[in-house]
Amino acid sequence: MTFLLAGFETSATTLTWALDLLSRHPIVWSHLADEVFDVLGHRTPSPGDLPRLRYARAVVEETLRLRPALWAIPRMAATDDVVGGYRVPKADLVIVVPYVTHRHPEFWTDPEGFDPARFLPEHRRRIAHWAFPFGAGQRQCLGRDFALMEAVLLLAMTAQRFSQPEGVRRHLPPDHLPPDPYVTLRPSDNVPIRLRPL
Ligand code: HEM
Repeated sequence: MTFLLAGFETSATTLTWALDLLSRHPIVWSHLADEVFDVLGHRTPSPGDLPRLRYARAVVEETLRLRPALWAIPRMAATDDVVGGYRVPKADLVIVVPYVTHRHPEFWTDPEGFDPARFLPEHRRRIAHWAFPFGAGQRQCLGRDFALMEAVLLLAMTAQRFSQPEGVRRHLPPDHLPPDPYVTLRPSDNVPIRLRPL
């Protein structure tokens, strides 16, 4: 049951946000398209291509930073504890909120900017602890690697076949689509996107 619930809306929401962000960032799109043509040409990607689809992976991770599909991660305290000076009694609910940490100015330069390059392997060591869209520890997402593989391959195949996604409402300001924090961080409205075949 968890597989079913955890596995589809998270990935679908992430890809929706990725297309929305890509529709508003032409330079990011052109880096993605260049990488896809360098690595794949017109060939269908396979899992073996993943290590070379570095920028595509970074686009997925940057999307998950700004729009973490699970924006709040609850834990129940196993014992009495003190965390950062705050007393946490046993059985209290503690909620970690990636949406906040992922844009905390202490950890990120230009926190609201969409800049996948920060997740390229040569830069990511600096930020390794501040991005945790899949949670952490014993209960971290079981589908993490699968979800990343799926999203990278789907984005790469989209960039291979279509020109930059066009937000049908692109005349609206960048924050036209506020997130709606329910169980997942869904867009607050439909996301009409036009894809034109290359
Ligand atoms: C972009 C996609 C996804 C995101 C952002 C995501 C995020 C998360 C997060 C934040 C948790 C809670 C981790 C914690 O409590 O520390 C979780 C748990 C889980 N996820 Fe995902 N997930 C994604 C896709 C998937 C997929 C595709 C599957 C299965 C195929 C999956 C299966 C699970 C399962 C089974 C758990 C519960 C793990 C446990 O409690 O031991 N997830 N996920």
